[in-house]
Amino acid sequence: MKITLNNIEETEEGITTFEKFKSKRKKLSPGSQNVRKLTADESSDRSFNSSDLEELRGRGILDELISIIKSGKEASVYLGRCAEDLFAVKIYTDLRVRSFRKDDIYRQGRFIGEARVKKAIDQGSAFGVDAHQILWVQEEFRQMNFLYEAGIPVPKPVACSGLVVMMEFIGEDGIAAERLSDLSLEKDEAEEAFRQSLKIFEAIVSSGRVHGDFSTYNILWHNGKAIAIDFPQVVGLNSNTAAKEILLKDVNSFCKSFKRHKLDPDAGKIYNRLLRMIDY
Ligand SMILES: Nc1ncnc2c1ncn2[C@@H]1O[C@H](COP(=O)(O)OP(=O)(O)O)[C@@H](O)[C@H]1O
Ligand SMILES: [Mg+2]
Repeated sequence: MKITLNNIEETEEGITTFEKFKSKRKKLSPGSQNVRKLTADESSDRSFNSSDLEELRGRGILDELISIIKSGKEASVYLGRCAEDLFAVKIYTDLRVRSFRKDDIYRQGRFIGEARVKKAIDQGSAFGVDAHQILWVQEEFRQMNFLYEAGIPVPKPVACSGLVVMMEFIGEDGIAAERLSDLSLEKDEAEEAFRQSLKIFEAIVSSGRVHGDFSTYNILWHNGKAIAIDFPQVVGLNSNTAAKEILLKDVNSFCKSFKRHKLDPDAGKIYNRLLRMIDY
């Protein structure tokens, strides 16, 4: 079966496949956002690039997309299936619709093998914009691999193709784990979530990197375990001259995001501790 979002939205065949799957995985709850059908808007989403998904299918690592976990302006994350296994499939929007100017600060110091490509990106030619978006997505996959290999709790990366990053699905029976930002936790659990999240923050910094968008919006909470996500904007502490500035921004939004959980971490103290971990 050809993988297209339409298989899920519109064709009999897609729905049948979904139903079959559902019966195998009894706990998939049809009422949940995780198994809702894709809307017409989502199906016609410019982010959908069938050739990237076809490639993953050709490699035998993805059979189909089952449902949408979260749709966003820059990327949408789908629940994907390969045989009995579930995956999270992050599909970036055609990034031409967004301005890349704000990404310049993150791009600094990244390795671009070919001078020709670097020049095209700097000049913003059509080829440059294409190359830029592919590199942005590949960077997420590359960073995830590095962090995963370093033993930091992030989803296990599976594959990257064009504008698609496929990774371990964090959740159970097709129901995705919640972000810390969406939960209301008791004091003890909130403190534990904070402790683990700070540990992840420190581990990323110790590995020589800054997440670039670190807050409860990018931390999943699954069975009492914090897992960081969303890495295209990760920067190297030694390769990006704005790294400290980005780190400070991260510390502030990280601390602010825990206010929802009635915690009030001392951003200055955390920033200083992180700075001491950096070997400039
Ligand atoms: N591996 C995963 N397992 C389960 N859910 C995920 C996974 N990765 C992302 N999500 C869900 O998709 C949302 C968007 O993913 P994210 O990588 O943060 O992209 P962005 O914020 O750029 O749209 C997350 O907030 C989370 O709810
Ligand atoms: Mg995010």
